[in-house]
Amino acid sequence: MYDLVVIGAGPGGYEAAAHAGRMGKKVALIEKGSLGGTCLNVGCIPAKTFLRSSKLFHECTQAAAYGVRLGSIAFDMPAVVERKNRIVSTLTKGVAGMLKRAGVETITGHARLVGRNTVQVGTQRYEAANILLATGSRPARPPIPGLSSEGVLDSDTIFNLSSVPEKIAIIGGGVIGLEFACFFNEVGSQVSVYEMLPQIAAGADLEISSRLLQIMKRAGIEFNLSAKVLAIEGNTVRFATPEGAEASVTADCILNATGRAPMVEGLGLEELGVDFDSRGVKTSEWGKTNVPGLWACGDVTGRRMLAHAATREGLAAVNNMFGKKDRIRYHAMPAVIYTHPEVSSVGRTEEELKTLGIEYKKSVVPMAVAGRFLVEHEGGTGMVKVLAGARYGEILGVHAIGDASSEFIVAATAMVETEMCVSDVSGIVFPHPTVSEALREAILGVHQE
Ligand code: NAI
Repeated sequence: MYDLVVIGAGPGGYEAAAHAGRMGKKVALIEKGSLGGTCLNVGCIPAKTFLRSSKLFHECTQAAAYGVRLGSIAFDMPAVVERKNRIVSTLTKGVAGMLKRAGVETITGHARLVGRNTVQVGTQRYEAANILLATGSRPARPPIPGLSSEGVLDSDTIFNLSSVPEKIAIIGGGVIGLEFACFFNEVGSQVSVYEMLPQIAAGADLEISSRLLQIMKRAGIEFNLSAKVLAIEGNTVRFATPEGAEASVTADCILNATGRAPMVEGLGLEELGVDFDSRGVKTSEWGKTNVPGLWACGDVTGRRMLAHAATREGLAAVNNMFGKKDRIRYHAMPAVIYTHPEVSSVGRTEEELKTLGIEYKKSVVPMAVAGRFLVEHEGGTGMVKVLAGARYGEILGVHAIGDASSEFIVAATAMVETEMCVSDVSGIVFPHPTVSEALREAILGVHQE
């Protein structure tokens, strides 16, 4: 009898398993694919590796602006893929080592729930006091005719490209679509994005996503907003124009970036009466499902499809199942879009505050108020926006666009999580010269109003 059986070894599952193992619990972790899940194998890490290379390549084209003259440069896609594979392999081995040190037993195979406390892999059954579902998600396939054809790539298969396409059409202007638009644009592809909503990065603060749109357009990416993709025929994407007409575009590569769907199939959830639908397994802020002893974390819950959210949810579930109360404060979950420039945020957007009827004060400063930003980014642009409660000045939301914002958003997260007020922050020292000083200036800007 195990104290815990975890199904799925992504950042939700493996961190939870290791945490329980370190608590001295008897833990098994079942995975049908590679350790690390989407994040390590076909998500965050591979994408960021690609983006690091495209950024460096692009920076080389701009080197003269920094007083550096280069000879001819070339983008070597096979070498980029090789580097990505090496990094993934190093990190996967790291996860295996961590699990071993934590005393977690890893089992390879497809797990299925066959009872409240029983998981089956092949013919083998495992009994457990607690089961944690951490099965993740897969690229969504909305009912667009032709979307499933072999020629259409998704965020799993795009990493197999061996050369840079001349022209790429990206369906979806969400996080995945934007990050890949940035990558392909920087390495010389002609990029067009088709997004059915009137804005990109839906859910982000509108002022920030509008600025991102402006910057990406200026960088040469074509955006078609309010343009719903209707069908794919061979290399042709057919879409509805905002005026309601039909148009088409032909590209030598098509990327489906229309979202991700929770992996809820083939797990035996129906038989067990688990409350779930196509948007995921329903969980409480403590990680509980409606079935006693069954917990869930990460993308399978459909709550926040972010690796760090999965980890937090996994740790909270483990804490709660072994008697330590732990509730997730979703409003303090940071998010980053790794476009160039990056977009980082935590807390409420201005649109949310308006909808909720919460009175707020606002401060926006350009990133260039931080000397370090100017030094690092010749011609760079960006801003930090702080939203604070009108009465007490509690920090409700921080939204930034500009490189290095992903590194300082953790400070803003701490402020939102601990309900700090603007007056509390004024005594905190920010190191100089750092880009984080733009955050300080934005916060103090609220104070002065
Ligand atoms: P998404 O939900 O962010 O964006 C999908 C977009 O596709 C939406 O804007 C939607 O309106 C659009 N769309 C859907 N059907 C369409 C159609 N027929 N025609 C035109 N547009 C259409 O999903 P995405 O970008 O695929 O990412 C999946 C998940 O992975 C997200 O939850 C995201 O948060 C997560 N992710 C996070 C990353 C990060 O934290 N940096 C990086 C990559 C993914």
